[in-house]
Amino acid sequence: MGFKHIVKGIATYLPGVGRFACRRTGGTDSARYCYSVWLRHLVMVHQSGLDTRPKVVAELGPGDSIGTGLAALLTGAETYYALDVVGYANTQANLNIFEELVSLFSERRPIPGRDEFPEITPQLTSCEFPREILSDDRLAEALVPSRIQEIRNALVRSTGVSPVNEKNMAETAMLRSEDAIEIRYFAPWYDAGVIKPESVDMIFSQAVLEHVEDLGGTYEALYRWLKGGGFMSHQIDLSSHGLSKHWNGHWGYSPLTWKLIKGNRPWLLNREPYSTHRDLIEKNGFDIVSELKADDTSGIARNHLAARFAHFTDDDLITRTVYVLARKKA
Ligand SMILES: C[S@@+](CC[C@H](N)C(=O)[O-])C[C@H]1O[C@@H](n2cnc3c(N)ncnc32)[C@H](O)[C@@H]1O
Repeated sequence: MGFKHIVKGIATYLPGVGRFACRRTGGTDSARYCYSVWLRHLVMVHQSGLDTRPKVVAELGPGDSIGTGLAALLTGAETYYALDVVGYANTQANLNIFEELVSLFSERRPIPGRDEFPEITPQLTSCEFPREILSDDRLAEALVPSRIQEIRNALVRSTGVSPVNEKNMAETAMLRSEDAIEIRYFAPWYDAGVIKPESVDMIFSQAVLEHVEDLGGTYEALYRWLKGGGFMSHQIDLSSHGLSKHWNGHWGYSPLTWKLIKGNRPWLLNREPYSTHRDLIEKNGFDIVSELKADDTSGIARNHLAARFAHFTDDDLITRTVYVLARKKA
């Protein structure tokens, strides 16, 4: 069971292979992907009647670039914090993506949809450019050339900041510039102290929370960083990510098999079902404002679950992806 995945997992212990296996993360090496992801989060926020003009935005797990956060800045945010466990993003890739994002917003391009990025969720009912959120007036202000240059400057100042210990992480967090735009990239982040408590309006993540090892501590940190009434917008892919022939086959692996599959990778999947996320969101003082689940009944049945997952609800077993928007109680 999962033999080829076990072999790959064990191979990550070989010198150099672990790093090679985890060199890239997914979609944010494409400006169009970043544009699509940010606009989807913005549309979902708008549909729930929350504030689509967050000033301070944080992202968990930006991956190959901080392009999705740059899209947030180009639509009016002033501060962006990126938190990853591995520093995948680099200045040149970020700059290239930034220039393409500027064109996409200037031209009000439609949101790249299922034909181009079949794997991105949540699915929207319309892929038209969301003029009801990003009016010409709002974009004229956000895309004024001097502001675009400020974002570019902040980007160059920020990337490459790769705090290696708690002391300089804290120092990096305290750095301030004279410009209105601020970007901070924390990779790796180990400590919730990197961001001031109650300072963030919106936190988002795309395909990240299924990978986070310390889910409890992370939801606590998200709560701590948000202002009262601030909100978080997450897309979570609960599938096996190709580590089984069944979309939910990762829940059939024993602890030992899973340990071998994970090998020496810095992160893989935490294998938690949606109910764990839901419980943590509610336990940590959030109200769920919107929840979009996509079910899939084609996977393994209950009798094939590993003993560790015997407690799964019927819903857990079939919930494949979730988009969840939750607000910190004021
Ligand atoms: C599948 S990639 C998704 C990257 C990007 N959000 C995208 O949409 O392409 C998962 C990302 O989550 C990051 N990650 C894993 N554990 C994390 C944690 N505890 N905190 C922050 N990021 C984490 C990984 O390093 C990686 O960048």
